Amino acid sequence: MIEIKNVSKSYIKNEKIIDNLNLEIKDGEIFGFLGPNGAGKTTTIKMITGILKIDEGDIFIDGQSITENPVNAKLNFGFVPDSPDMFLKLKGIEYLNFIADIYKIDSKIRKDRIERLSKEFEIYDNLNEQIQNYSHGMRQKLLIIGVLLHEPKNWILDEPLTGLDPKSAYDLKEKMKAHSRKGNTVFFSTHVLEVAEKLCDRIGIINKGKLLFVGTYEEMKKQFKDSNSLEDIFLKVTEE
Ligand SMILES: Nc1ncnc2c1ncn2[C@@H]1O[C@H](COP(=O)(O)OP(=O)(O)OP(=O)(O)O)[C@@H](O)[C@H]1O
Ligand SMILES: [Mg+2]
Repeated sequence: MIEIKNVSKSYIKNEKIIDNLNLEIKDGEIFGFLGPNGAGKTTTIKMITGILKIDEGDIFIDGQSITENPVNAKLNFGFVPDSPDMFLKLKGIEYLNFIADIYKIDSKIRKDRIERLSKEFEIYDNLNEQIQNYSHGMRQKLLIIGVLLHEPKNWILDEPLTGLDPKSAYDLKEKMKAHSRKGNTVFFSTHVLEVAEKLCDRIGIINKGKLLFVGTYEEMKKQFKDSNSLEDIFLKVTEE
């Protein structure tokens, strides 16, 4: 469960990029975070994950405050950032072992999981190459495997499907469904409205740091009776 309580953030003094955001993502839920470029999705995700300092309010992951108890809070989630271009000098296998070390995953379990997941995502044969030689999608897959490796209850994914080929995108969506069915939480941002519509239990639309809608797709359709698609509703909500 992720609770965002009265959170505000400015990069420049008195210019609120996130303005008193309140949002609760429940156990067992896939939540899609939508909004135009520059709306504040990544800023929100960086505050949830403790990368950016929160100016006002607080965020709790399974009850642990990211400000008061950052290490405990961080043990409760896995994170895939919007840009997978990091640790470029490491080999894929070195990165995964590094993650497994941080989360203290037993050597037998780690070996099995790395083999299974990297074969599933079809980068098993590349694990001994440096990440700088990976394509964008391969880097993305490696980060996703890093998250799956330690099996956190909460998944936080910033545009995770961008750059994935159709099979990998399908696999990840299936994994997201299975994860939520087990009572876990998936919070992800996306620009792909069709994915949001089909995959998410609830959707949030943010623009200029303010939450404009939160609810199920069915609730959204009721609220916007004269619109006939999520695209239509999205354009209406965000143009005002
Ligand atoms: N480090 C920074 N310093 C100053 N302003 C920033 C910084 N990072 C983001 N911003 C601004 O904050 C606003 C929100 O950016 P953010 O990256 O959260 O948007 P987003 O919803 O993730 O957009 P996108 O869909 O393009 O990924 C934008 O106006 C952006 O210019
Ligand atoms: Mg972003």
